[in-house]
Amino acid sequence: LKIAIDGPAGAGKSTVAKKVAEKLKLLYIDTGAMYRAITYGVIKNKIDIDNEKEVAEFLDKLDFRLNRNELSKEMDIFINGELVNSKLRNREVDKNVSKISSYKKVREFLVSIQQKLGSEYDVILDGRDIGTVVFPNADFKFYIDASVEERADRRLKDIKNKEHLSYDEIKREIIERDKLDSTRKISPLKKAVDAVYIDTSNMGIDEVVDRVISIVLKK
Ligand code: DC
Repeated sequence: LKIAIDGPAGAGKSTVAKKVAEKLKLLYIDTGAMYRAITYGVIKNKIDIDNEKEVAEFLDKLDFRLNRNELSKEMDIFINGELVNSKLRNREVDKNVSKISSYKKVREFLVSIQQKLGSEYDVILDGRDIGTVVFPNADFKFYIDASVEERADRRLKDIKNKEHLSYDEIKREIIERDKLDSTRKISPLKKAVDAVYIDTSNMGIDEVVDRVISIVLKK
């Protein structure tokens, strides 16, 4: 079984996917975390983010490993041996991840890992291109959306504002990331024609989870 969940930044995809995974006993794969992990590695190794060739060379030498953490039920991601999960959600990664994820080599590298996992397990993946590129034949596809205002609001609560960002700054960065993710040349963020569209602006998480599960169980 393969369930694809796509949508813009901050729409609640990962929270929903994680809960659905728990209830349906699926492996949850956060593909955004993989793009973030590569971005973290590039920054840490002082690779020039704007230099696609240098980034590709970094990838060739990279030791990238995933391991399911039985406690958290999530994937632990190791970059050259370093467990990076707690280092992926900060402003520096946020600001650079769209650039890194626009590179062809990066996408090929991660998409093949995602497809391999999907061929071995029952999975639910969240990302931008899951229903369109990674698993165009997924059993179920959802496109989870919310207004920019609602997403900025959720993000503000989510980051506990360690970085002292204003609502307007967060909103601006979300708009910028949406734009980069949906206008890039390779695998832009796009609703698959056969995806179920859910606008979560006025929905609670559990409501969204129930909607997804009821659609899956109906079949
Ligand atoms: O879901 P997220 O915010 O953690 O994703 C981080 C970035 O990674 C997002 O801005 C675009 C990129 N991404 C992607 O290009 N394709 C995916 N399948 C998942 C994420």
